[in-house]
Amino acid sequence: MAAPSLIDQREGRPRTVAEAILLVGGKGTRLRPLTVNTPKPMLEVAGVPFLSHQLARAKAAGITRIVFATAYKPEVFEEYFGDGSRFGLELVYVQEVEPLDTAGAIRNVADQLVSAPNEPVMIFNGDILSGVDLGALRAEHAARGADVTLHLTKVADPRAFGLVPTDADGWVTSFREKPQRPEDIVTDQINAGCYVFKREIIDGIPAGRRVSVERETFPGLLERGAKVLGVVEQSYWLDLGTPAAFARGSADLVLGAISSPAVPASTCERYDAALVLDGAEVAESAQLGAGTTIGRDGRVGADAAVYGSVIGAGAVIEEGVSVRDSIIGRGARIGAGTVLEGVVVGDGANVGAGNELLGGVRVSCDAVLPDSSVRFSHDAS
Ligand code: GTP
Repeated sequence: MAAPSLIDQREGRPRTVAEAILLVGGKGTRLRPLTVNTPKPMLEVAGVPFLSHQLARAKAAGITRIVFATAYKPEVFEEYFGDGSRFGLELVYVQEVEPLDTAGAIRNVADQLVSAPNEPVMIFNGDILSGVDLGALRAEHAARGADVTLHLTKVADPRAFGLVPTDADGWVTSFREKPQRPEDIVTDQINAGCYVFKREIIDGIPAGRRVSVERETFPGLLERGAKVLGVVEQSYWLDLGTPAAFARGSADLVLGAISSPAVPASTCERYDAALVLDGAEVAESAQLGAGTTIGRDGRVGADAAVYGSVIGAGAVIEEGVSVRDSIIGRGARIGAGTVLEGVVVGDGANVGAGNELLGGVRVSCDAVLPDSSVRFSHDAS
């Protein structure tokens, strides 16, 4: 297919297409069972599929065209976002036959890019909630003449991340795998999952096989003497890959700790610190807070308390239930008096009354947990 013209026909001068690639093909295994039915970037965060926030932020930063690199459940993305006109963006979808890993996925969409070889293409991981100034990142990339620019952030505990040390001028000196020993922690700077690539660097990635951007592409670029820049920016940043981070990110959007034009208005004015979506019914005596979202057509019964949690569309929280820092899938039911803390409940699961599920428990989609013989009375002192 011929690339669309970069010449604005009416004006007769170059048209700027600010282009991005969105990596959305991962299986999201750490978020199972939520990702059994829905790819991670399409899970609802603060009332809308997570990507809605990313697209809104990209658009606000002047991006006009986004190519989705899909692999797992590819159809779901196009069904929701279509050609992007509803969102003021041009969206294009490319599907991998087999997952190609991050850099393989980037290379696989090269045919669909319209940028010239030396023009910048932004690349986003589809699971990062971030307030990074995308315009500033692109401007720095251009001003410094970089081949690739990475957004780096600093974290208190970098053990779970790839480390990216830089020299005094910001040029990346090496890429380090997750540190195993204390002496391996050479920096607190980590790869934040947002890059600017010169188009020609994308074309240079080997085609048709799995390639990891962190393990192969970036170290290979350094070896070949490419100019790889790290821009440290410590605005809000969260990788939504784990259940705890996912609930936290949704709550932070609801609470305004990070802003997104895509957060819908609440339909219930009683709660300052919660988002209630269309059709949801919340009993007068229920308490909602700490950034909780109640999904469309959800129900929260009398004396229930839901804090810091994401309740899926059509889910039912019965009376006296206590839910904290948890994610409840679509159409799930939580029986009266049950206590959930730091728990993930899959779509359609049925958790009986009077149970207590704590710290990291995951309930499969459509699982049925019987009522507990030990009854917890929500009004017992
Ligand atoms: P986990 O399985 O829980 O680690 O999640 P994940 O599969 O999303 O992997 P990870 O968080 O490391 O992925 C980072 C980003 O790259 C996410 O936005 C993924 O959707 C994306 N990604 C990972 N592997 C592939 C792939 O093979 N193809 C494509 N197109 N995207 C990928």
